[in-house]
Amino acid sequence: MKKQLAVALSIATVVGMFGSVSAFAGETEAATEGASGAGKKIGISMPTQSLERWNRDGSYLDEQFKKAGYATEVTYSDNDSGRQVSDIQNMIADKVDLLVIAAIDGEALNTVVDEAADANIPVIAYDRLIKNDNDTYYVSFDNYTVGTLQGKFIVDTLDLDNAGDKTYNMEITAGDPADNNATFFYKGAMDVLQPYLDKGTLKVPSGQTDFDSVATAQWDTQKALSRMQNILGSYYADGTQLDVALCSNDSTALGVTQAIQSDYAGKNSVLITGQDGDEANLKNLMDGLQTMTVYKAVANEAVVTLDLAQAILNGETVDQSWIDGRKFGFDCTFDDKSYTAVDKVIPSLLLVPDVVTKDNAVEKLVDTGYYTRDSDGYLHPAQ
Ligand code: GAL
Repeated sequence: MKKQLAVALSIATVVGMFGSVSAFAGETEAATEGASGAGKKIGISMPTQSLERWNRDGSYLDEQFKKAGYATEVTYSDNDSGRQVSDIQNMIADKVDLLVIAAIDGEALNTVVDEAADANIPVIAYDRLIKNDNDTYYVSFDNYTVGTLQGKFIVDTLDLDNAGDKTYNMEITAGDPADNNATFFYKGAMDVLQPYLDKGTLKVPSGQTDFDSVATAQWDTQKALSRMQNILGSYYADGTQLDVALCSNDSTALGVTQAIQSDYAGKNSVLITGQDGDEANLKNLMDGLQTMTVYKAVANEAVVTLDLAQAILNGETVDQSWIDGRKFGFDCTFDDKSYTAVDKVIPSLLLVPDVVTKDNAVEKLVDTGYYTRDSDGYLHPAQ
């Protein structure tokens, strides 16, 4: 683990925190002679730089492929699907050998993924499934488990199984409907919590429980903030206590936390969930404002993606025995059931998410080398 991170870190000094990754990193130095990537080029299309994690994904992927001797083209499309389509079309025109795409909108890339297939360019759907049967493989974390971890954390922390006739009030903030992951996170959590909602142990005073009502376009912090302010103003101004804010990820949790700080009159501390380990949220975690975040080591997601790309370009078949043969040093499971694009189930390689709290953050994030801890006691991404 630490070794991989040491490798990944080498980019950090080069890349520097986000600023220097231009929207179009363009073609980089020629492939290292003899390395497996010699003479090959990889197109890496990320959704945006405004959501913190994708900067890390882009840098780790860029670094992994460069180290293997590939040339790379890295783009960030500012959460604009139209721009992502033209960014990918440029890569196809540049005759990249393989595409790694984290889709802004899983439904909006159909034409360009078909164009890639027509040009015999394999496509790895990265982190978010692209709803196109021409996806070659899908690499992500177990998205449903991200949700169940958040749900179980609420059940265990509030000891809902022994609540007796005590009840708890919860509000839900889910993710971007255009992101195929969002419903997996939501469903994972709700499948755990539904029995407590049915029993009345958990209540949702706003009544907003279906996905469409609680979704947050573009995972936008500001949208999550203003929706939560409306809910607090409408359903909690009379002194109703809020006990839980189930948030699918950190960018939405940041907005919800701000709304609770500015608009919630209650004196109790609200259990707030999240995902990603964003820097601002880890500060809130250490300050006791956010209660947990589901951490996904995207450095490892990049390692799997590199090895998968090489296997594809070498015409190898990828399945569980291939994964076991890689000896990644972290868990990764082959799944050929859970992710259907249109009619075709896309073979998937899924990594394991983990729960981070104030108490285990140093052990899980700093001791592993993914984050550093400065004298202020706060955690900062190593990259
Ligand atoms: C999801 C991703 C999450 C979160 C969210 C917003 O697709 O899996 O980690 O970052 O997008 O970027």
